[in-house]
Amino acid sequence: MSNASFPTTRMRRLRYNPLLREMVRENVISPDKLILPVFVRSGKKIRRPIPSMPGHFQTSVDELAVDVKEAAALGIGGLILFGIPDEKDEIGNDAMSENGIISQAIEISKDVAKDKLMIITDVCFCEYTNHGHCGVLHKTHNGQLDVDNDATLKNLVRQAVVHAKSGVDMVAPSGMIDGMVGQIRQGLDQEGFTHIPIMSYSAKYASAFYGPFREAAESSPQFGDRRTYQMDASASAAQALREIQLDINEGADIIMVKPALAYLDIIKLAKDNFNGVPIATYNVSGEYSMVKAAAEKGWIDEKAVVKESLIAMHRAGANIILTYWAKEIAKWYKERN
Ligand code: PBG
Repeated sequence: MSNASFPTTRMRRLRYNPLLREMVRENVISPDKLILPVFVRSGKKIRRPIPSMPGHFQTSVDELAVDVKEAAALGIGGLILFGIPDEKDEIGNDAMSENGIISQAIEISKDVAKDKLMIITDVCFCEYTNHGHCGVLHKTHNGQLDVDNDATLKNLVRQAVVHAKSGVDMVAPSGMIDGMVGQIRQGLDQEGFTHIPIMSYSAKYASAFYGPFREAAESSPQFGDRRTYQMDASASAAQALREIQLDINEGADIIMVKPALAYLDIIKLAKDNFNGVPIATYNVSGEYSMVKAAAEKGWIDEKAVVKESLIAMHRAGANIILTYWAKEIAKWYKERN
């Protein structure tokens, strides 16, 4: 740090000229760092708006092809696919079926994207179970229904292997099930998928910011909440480091912090402690809907707020950002300023 002070040092000297302002920037979001979440359901010619997420839809596989083409043309880094099956059941069988909605979505996406986009899948069960929880249920010692950790692990492996067989480029387990990364890694390796990376939702909090997503993915828990598996926001920030460390030990290639804006401190902590591991963050549905709603009312400038927020995530240490604004940001990036 330089000790020089005013008038030798004038911080504004770097700000007068817009070209110089641009030259000294370090936090610039390019579209190839963005992942766009999409919601896929069965049927044909379906493009059903999601009321709480303007600009986002549940689409059938044929319509998904349109979005994939557009995302590839815009230079976006990848898509993360979420499936809404026709039939939900106790354990979420559709998620483990080679004819399931996600397998179809992967095949179409890979075909249309022509290797211009990373096709990523969320590996979890909440969209596929009739109870909306992220795995197999059992009764705990005190008689409560809860997600059975180890039984769920087996199904997560089956799900990830089905995705790999369908041609996915990367899997992203999001259930916060203990041991999920290690088991999925082992399962993929055994089936010859040693090259498929895992992006783990490592520090995922039990958050109220997921509300609109649950409407979009029809994945709300039918009883209780997700606090026995997702992290407690009030827990020590160091707990997030333990979660991330475990995932790295189990073979996670990319780690994720979720949500983004209320957890920038966790992103920064991860960056400071695990430099060298790519860090992703998920700019979640609630963060999207709040800005959209305020912008619709004319209370804020959507584009400026989105850019500023994304830069904050990047500055905190996230190199990869999952965001519902991926397409818009890619268009804005072309404009530069
Ligand atoms: C679980 C999953 C969720 C989100 C991504 N993966 C929902 C949850 O944990 O309840 C939320 C994403 C968002 O809010 O945008 N499959």
